[in-house]
Amino acid sequence: MKFFADTADVADIQDLASTGLLDGVTTNPSLIAKSGRDLKEVTREICALVDGPVSAEVVALDHQEMMKEADILRHIADNVCIKVPLTIDGLKTCKALTRDGALVNVTLCFSANQALLAAKAGATFVSPFVGRHDDVGQNGMALIADIRRIYDNYAFSTEILVASVRHPIHVHEAALIGADVMTAPPAIIRQLVRHPLTDKGIEGFLADWGKTGQAI
Ligand code: G3P
Repeated sequence: MKFFADTADVADIQDLASTGLLDGVTTNPSLIAKSGRDLKEVTREICALVDGPVSAEVVALDHQEMMKEADILRHIADNVCIKVPLTIDGLKTCKALTRDGALVNVTLCFSANQALLAAKAGATFVSPFVGRHDDVGQNGMALIADIRRIYDNYAFSTEILVASVRHPIHVHEAALIGADVMTAPPAIIRQLVRHPLTDKGIEGFLADWGKTGQAI
């Protein structure tokens, strides 16, 4: 399973990238606003920090304008992945961009039929938002399982990128289902490593090691 960081915070990305466990980054207009940075400048910096895809989202709503914005974003770096919304214009843009060799992430996916359309449009990634699905009383992870089954039924190569991840259980469940990628805020990625028994174990081993009087 690939791990993407869902943030536009360069320091956080740098720190996670140094672990060697980061496969890419996803941003969106809200995360760019939160960073307080210029979209093109911060995207360029992020693209230099990770080898994998860095999603940068268009904000236009019609196909022609999306294509113009995508053209600007694509020229920032080779690993920019154009993020488009799951609308007819977004799908049309996805088809045109992927035909031209670009990476495309179709975002704001909330149903299996939407994911089917994204795959038919040739999307590199589809982003179902599990947390926002859960927020409205629906089962976000059931959606991931449905998409996995549909994609496997037809051998679609579009990767399922689980987004709107809110806690480690989302990661665990998505991995069991066989989602290709998950994107989560850096704090959640760091939470995955923590276990109280690991901390307790280290403490016990170090205490016993101290009694031996040895050094390595
Ligand atoms: O990248 C989009 C997505 O991950 C948003 O998450 O927590 O704002 O629903 P959230």
